[in-house]
Amino acid sequence: MNNKPGKVFFVFIFTGLLLWFGYAQALTLSVESDYVISSYEVVLVLHELLLVFWLGPDIGIFIWSTKVANPANSDATRVTAAGMMHTIDLFPRVCISLMLTVGGILTEVVGIEHAWWQWIAILPLGPVWLTLVVIAYLKEGTSVGETVAKLDKWLRWIVVVSVPISVAYATSIGRMDNAPWVSAKLLIFAAIVLLGLLARRHLDAMQGGIRELAANGSSDALNAKLVGSVKSARPYIIAIWVGLAVASWLGIEQPGSIQSEMRSAAVSVTGDMTQGGEQTWK
Ligand code: HEM
Repeated sequence: MNNKPGKVFFVFIFTGLLLWFGYAQALTLSVESDYVISSYEVVLVLHELLLVFWLGPDIGIFIWSTKVANPANSDATRVTAAGMMHTIDLFPRVCISLMLTVGGILTEVVGIEHAWWQWIAILPLGPVWLTLVVIAYLKEGTSVGETVAKLDKWLRWIVVVSVPISVAYATSIGRMDNAPWVSAKLLIFAAIVLLGLLARRHLDAMQGGIRELAANGSSDALNAKLVGSVKSARPYIIAIWVGLAVASWLGIEQPGSIQSEMRSAAVSVTGDMTQGGEQTWK
């Protein structure tokens, strides 16, 4: 944990390379279609990258956490595994911080418009939240780091409360009539942020246990504490993955939208599909 600026520099270079890869991917898609990279393609690739770099590292953290909790591993292995968890954890945090802003822009690009006052919240949210996440990581263990981590936590609670309120308001005035799937995605996002806050309570207790492990070595009581915190965080983590999967499905299928109904209307089935029936597209 001593070389944090180096690690963060590495994360930014890595992210930059991936964004470049995403941009190249968008270019390939465009060449297949119209030779033009549209803003839609760029934002869509960014949105998908956020999912990839959220879920992938999250699974990594989960696997490392089982190594930390396992008393059969040496103390040194367990402390190293905890260090890995801590480093990888920056990725999901970065992705969560940017998801609402990128999702909000994507929503506008696909034709679901926002009021001017919503832009005042949507656009700065991502950069501000990302700054808090990075400062909290870089300055961890200092008073500045602790203050910024608290601000990050409060911001999460604000998101948990304000997103459902804003979805309820937009639904009540009929703005989401053609895009109920976006409302569902927003509610899932708020639920995921809440689940993350609840899971963190258990994982924070684990950090205390790791420090004890590094300083004094393992003991039966400490092992039980570590196993307990991993076990209690597990249901929240699995619920987050289910939420991510459902949000992805909603983004692909867009149930309730005009496009989704047009897609269904475009398919006609003749006969029994299990017995040689045919599916044709109009
Ligand atoms: C909770 C985490 C989220 C995940 C895992 C997620 C994932 C996805 C995925 C996989 C797609 C399909 C992309 C494709 O068809 O290639 C998608 C589409 C979309 N997402 Fe999300 N999303 C999330 C949150 C959000 C949020 C919060 C918003 C809006 C505020 C949003 C807005 C959209 C829009 C508008 C599309 C459709 C783009 C199109 O029509 O092609 N997403 N999302």
